[in-house]
Amino acid sequence: MPGLIERYWDRLPFAEGDPIITLNEGSTPLIHAPVLSDRVGAEVWLKYEGLNPTGSFKDRGMTAAVSGAVREGAEAVLCASTGNTAASLAAYAARAGIRGAVLVPEGKIATGKLAQALMHGARVIAIHANFDVALDIVRELSEHEPIALVNSVNPLRLEGQKTAAFEIDEDLGPDRPLDALCIPVGNAGNISAYWKGFQEIGQAPKMLGFQAEGAAPLVLGHPVENPDTIASAIRIGKPARWEEAMAAMTNSLGMVRAVSDAEILDAYRFVAAKEGVFCEPASAAPIAGLLKYGVPEGVQRIACVLTGHGLKDPQTALGASGSVIPCKPDLASVREAVLGGAS
Ligand code: F0G
Repeated sequence: MPGLIERYWDRLPFAEGDPIITLNEGSTPLIHAPVLSDRVGAEVWLKYEGLNPTGSFKDRGMTAAVSGAVREGAEAVLCASTGNTAASLAAYAARAGIRGAVLVPEGKIATGKLAQALMHGARVIAIHANFDVALDIVRELSEHEPIALVNSVNPLRLEGQKTAAFEIDEDLGPDRPLDALCIPVGNAGNISAYWKGFQEIGQAPKMLGFQAEGAAPLVLGHPVENPDTIASAIRIGKPARWEEAMAAMTNSLGMVRAVSDAEILDAYRFVAAKEGVFCEPASAAPIAGLLKYGVPEGVQRIACVLTGHGLKDPQTALGASGSVIPCKPDLASVREAVLGGAS
């Protein structure tokens, strides 16, 4: 498959001859989830965005934002990030041959994301403050310097990310539209992008947004000063796309709900162990929400957006899963380790 700008050329703000920076992102699988479907009594699908080139949905927005930045003649791109935007920016900046710089909350970025940003050669700058503070700083910096800001406040990010809605529709087929979309909400760009995409194809699935309890400004109705959650990707207290996200949920007759870290971890293990799909903790929030709150009335077909790959955050995975079994290097011991105690 080509990258998504080429795939959805007619629905994106790019013209012939524009520079296109792509890593063949998009075209991610929509995977049926039989165990989850059974559990909640509906037809549940997983939009596995972890299979994008840098392992998250950010690549959809980044191909558009970095292509736009290059078209404008930018020599550098900048973002604040909880990790995935940083990894994606770094890869697309490398691909474009321009400088990438990312501002991250110190010590709060999953290991894989940090490794990606550094390997792709971005300047990774850590501040002792949360994402919201970092975003305020890069917004101000980009106003005064010739640097393109590629956070989801950049409209091209939403343009790129809306294409996931088109893909879900194409995969399900014309007679099987989605009734609801379950999605984690952090800075609130992605839910706004999906809603835009669905509206453009004349659909209106209920947008069900999920936040972590310790970082749930949209649920509380006010910003959270010190957001905290194990799902570091959505550790955000003051979402930039607050109004759009609320409008998406209101207009689609959806809702926004909170799930606890314990519920997120249960869902994270559940989807890995029962469906064979490994996502990062933030991506498990919508699964946790579905398991906790059940399926809204009248909803039959649901997609959960698994926004990032599980390999992004190996530390949380190792802390949340079983341990390795030490074993002597002989047949009997290995047999016992493999088969023993099996009930
Ligand atoms: N899931 C993952 C894995 C994310 O990385 C993010 C956001 C979200 C969900 C929430 O999406 O912000 O559009 O509501 N990560 C950003 C980052 C903030 O910097 O990587 P949103």
